[in-house]
Amino acid sequence: MTNHDSGPPAAKAVDLTKVYGAGDTQVVALDGVTVDFIASQFTAIMGPSGSGKSTLMHCMAALDTPTSGQVFIGDVELSALNDKKLTRLRRDRIGFVFQAFNLVPTLTARENITLPLDIAGTRVDRDWFETIISTVGLSDRLKHKPNELSGGQQQRVACARALLSKPEIVFADEPTGNLDSRSGAEVLAFLRRSVREFGQTIVMVTHDPGAAAHADRVLFLGDGRLVDEMIDPTAEKVLERMKGFDAVGTGQVG
Ligand SMILES: Nc1ncnc2c1ncn2[C@@H]1O[C@H](COP(=O)(O)OP(=O)(O)O)[C@@H](O)[C@H]1O
Ligand SMILES: [Mg+2]
Repeated sequence: MTNHDSGPPAAKAVDLTKVYGAGDTQVVALDGVTVDFIASQFTAIMGPSGSGKSTLMHCMAALDTPTSGQVFIGDVELSALNDKKLTRLRRDRIGFVFQAFNLVPTLTARENITLPLDIAGTRVDRDWFETIISTVGLSDRLKHKPNELSGGQQQRVACARALLSKPEIVFADEPTGNLDSRSGAEVLAFLRRSVREFGQTIVMVTHDPGAAAHADRVLFLGDGRLVDEMIDPTAEKVLERMKGFDAVGTGQVG
């Protein structure tokens, strides 16, 4: 399934650096990360707590601005865009799934899924909506409010919302982090299926070797740097690799 020679990347970072604060309280969250995210691939990002995974997701998804370096979505470089264009790019070309679901509690599942397009005044593609809903297995839950849904169902609503605009790339920051293993498996199965069947490009942060094994490729971050990469991961291989990091003192779980 993995093809590293396939076409231009869906997104990339070039020497990406992010520094928070200044002076004594300065934190280098990203320290020169260069990486390509290949189109129609499922990439997992792993690394100890504080290694810069969320910062990388936020900078890639235009939710945060780098200190230096460049981010490209397709061939568009983000720093070249004004606020209005950046907002439009974020809305039309990028999907984001958060650990905490981030659904609007007063809206139904259906309303949550279509909310970004409704706000943008964009027509919802009915066929595509039905395709996503049946793939994600939410057809009989659309009238429910988030508090009437399980955690796994809520996260699948959030995934459907992220996919509805047919974004070029979806970033998911620990999407299974708040879920029990069965609900997590539902969400992972959906993400995997959207790569296989729709050619969706997905980048997912996870701490779970079993979750990472769903990906085509795993990137390992340590102290804001890309420290390793694994193609066609298995849970066993990922676990072995993480033990290796522990042995050299870079891995605390968090
Ligand atoms: N808004 C912020 N202000 C200051 N420091 C931050 C901020 N966000 C993240 N950091 C710091 O940057 C580093 C990387 O954080 P993060 O990207 O959240 O790591 P991860 O997601 O891998 O746990 C950490 O040391 C964290 O404390
Ligand atoms: Mg994080």
